Amino acid sequence: MSNLNKIKPFLKWAGGKTQLINQLKDIFPNQLGNGLITRYIEPFIGGGAVFFYIAKSYQIEEFFISDINPELILAYQTIQKYVDDLIPLLFQLQTQYLSLNFPDRTNFYYQIRSQFNQKRQQIDFDKYNHDWLERTAQIIFLNRTCFNGLFRVNSKGEFNVPAGKYQKPTICDPDNLKAVEKVLQKALIYRGDFQLCSQYVHEKSLVYFDPPYKPLNKTSKFTSYSTHIFDDSEQLRLRDFYQQLDQKGAYLILSNSDSQNNNSLNNFFQQAYQKYTIKKVKANRSINSKTNLRGKINEIIITNY
Ligand SMILES: C[S@@+](CC[C@H](N)C(=O)[O-])C[C@H]1O[C@@H](n2cnc3c(N)ncnc32)[C@H](O)[C@@H]1O
Repeated sequence: MSNLNKIKPFLKWAGGKTQLINQLKDIFPNQLGNGLITRYIEPFIGGGAVFFYIAKSYQIEEFFISDINPELILAYQTIQKYVDDLIPLLFQLQTQYLSLNFPDRTNFYYQIRSQFNQKRQQIDFDKYNHDWLERTAQIIFLNRTCFNGLFRVNSKGEFNVPAGKYQKPTICDPDNLKAVEKVLQKALIYRGDFQLCSQYVHEKSLVYFDPPYKPLNKTSKFTSYSTHIFDDSEQLRLRDFYQQLDQKGAYLILSNSDSQNNNSLNNFFQQAYQKYTIKKVKANRSINSKTNLRGKINEIIITNY
């Protein structure tokens, strides 16, 4: 039996919001949970920490989740429809990996990583086929056994994270996968730009935007979710979209890093979203080697209600 109470992301994702949930939930609109919000939409889904939290905590009729990353969306779609075929593949990878000693585990990891990268050109990301099962198993395997458990691709779209050294990683977690499958039965899942959700948003929708962070400084530029770059002009395109959805009467939440973290004069978000409510919350983030940017930094949460 799948247990929704314990549901969690099936992939560890850079910028994952698990640690922000306590602050976010205080900011959720009161209409969530009393039937006035029937749709939840998350167009930068990543690992889906907030989506899974909402799905287990509130009655929502329909979900719309999307992301530009094709590998990620392929994994969500596979779990939605074929989790029972996926679990034995993952179990097999887990048994094989854990039976090896460390140098062999590392070799095994690089073997799977190169198979994964070599196959990329042949994958049809649009239409389900048998390759998706093996690929989803490999994505989860690589995510669980790679260094720091992060998904990162280079400009060619190749997964390039080195091997990790976890003693006993959980590669196959059937209970969680079944819980994820259950929640995904109510979800539309798409690969593509954040604007894809536009037609789906109505006045009973809650939309949560968690785009790639605006870099804290020029050297901490982090653009490795996919082969796409999310620069300031993308942040402003997103702001324009936020305004459009606001006109539709939807409830909107957007999070990002605070541009004032390392420069109190940088009011990029304060200007871009001056019509809206901006709250600052503390987040633990160690994404920069400069000591003054380590530890707790501010994130901003922008709401239109
Ligand atoms: C900060 S992460 C989201 C993390 C997520 N909230 C979580 O808890 O794991 C940002 C996501 O935006 C996606 N992305 C980047 N550019 C995009 C675009 N133009 N449209 C849609 N998604 C995009 C990336 O692939 C990445 O998964």
